[in-house]
Amino acid sequence: MKMLALAYAIFVVTSTLILGKNMCDGKVVQFIFGDSLSDVGNNMYLSKSLAQASLPWYGIDFGNGMPNGRFTNGRTVADIIGDKMGLPRPPAFLDPSLNEDVILEKGVNYASGGGGILNQTGGWFVQKFSLSKQIELFKGTQDLIRSKIGIKRAEKFFQESRYVVALGSNDFINNYLMPVYRDSWKYNDESYIQYLMETLGAQLTLLHSFGARELMVFGLGPMGCIPLQRVLSSSGGCQEKTNNLALSFNKATNDLMTHLSSTLQNANYKFGDAYDVVDDLIKNPQKFGFSNSDSPCCSFGNIRPALTCVPASTLCKDRSKYVFWDEYHPSDGANELIANELINKFGFLRVNQAEGPSPASEVAPPPHGK
Ligand SMILES: *[C@@H]1O[C@H](CO)[C@@H](O)[C@H](O)[C@H]1NC(C)=O
Repeated sequence: MKMLALAYAIFVVTSTLILGKNMCDGKVVQFIFGDSLSDVGNNMYLSKSLAQASLPWYGIDFGNGMPNGRFTNGRTVADIIGDKMGLPRPPAFLDPSLNEDVILEKGVNYASGGGGILNQTGGWFVQKFSLSKQIELFKGTQDLIRSKIGIKRAEKFFQESRYVVALGSNDFINNYLMPVYRDSWKYNDESYIQYLMETLGAQLTLLHSFGARELMVFGLGPMGCIPLQRVLSSSGGCQEKTNNLALSFNKATNDLMTHLSSTLQNANYKFGDAYDVVDDLIKNPQKFGFSNSDSPCCSFGNIRPALTCVPASTLCKDRSKYVFWDEYHPSDGANELIANELINKFGFLRVNQAEGPSPASEVAPPPHGK
């Protein structure tokens, strides 16, 4: 009797796996739109861009430790979330090895350091992909895939894919909060966020018209507490005005996703942020096993802000104990905490059930505390 039950269970499991495999042509992959927090190499190929992570010590805790285009020492939040969902890591759009087969197998990451929701954001970086540019590039990717596998299969592929949209901090830090920008005197806090929402809403509606159904938008953290913002305040504390902008942005984006999910057909657009956890981490780093939450691990002597991490910079002793890697970006350890919080908020399940986590060789183990 026991044997029979077991045999039946095995039959059910295998037939589900086989059926499941036959039902979809391929793997579920991701298309990622974002800024430096999600960039995995696009800016490295934008040779005129001033937003670069192409020099040591970027990437020191990732793979072979050489710079790979990520603006951190290890993994991005999107890397960690994708790994936990069983999704392959999509290569950068500008990666020369990208072709139709790679796209069908892994998706594409269009994220670009300095990019924003608005075209004019981050202008001083000279070269970067704004959200609208990234979506334009995605449209080109769709044409490529359609001619490879046909319109019908392509439609299914793009509807089953997962979409991540993670931008917004540059629209504040490298636009609205910089007095040289026209946007800073044309708008107030409320009307600026309204402007961002109109733009984001139109872009996400466009993505829906291109087939995006399963989409996650990541909110902003307490960006008034990044080392660069602190160094601008006389007390060295967090900039409350900047933090309040992040909170208002998150609330407005959450409302926008609820609205889009109820008005766009079959759209499952979700919002999640890790604001509270990061706020707690910054106020009580010890509680989370960190020792420093106000200055960058990679710094250039006493010169602050150093703006970027360069080969002549010195590194903190224990990278796993620093919340911030450079003046702008969280460390691998902080990204892991953020990713776990977002996973809780989104409440999702693994996508490619048969897939194991990404091969260990792809990434060095996260630097755990000693
Ligand atoms: C933003 O840039 C794109 C090109 O990347 C262009 O098509 C679009 O019209 C621009 N949007 C605005 C509001 O200027």
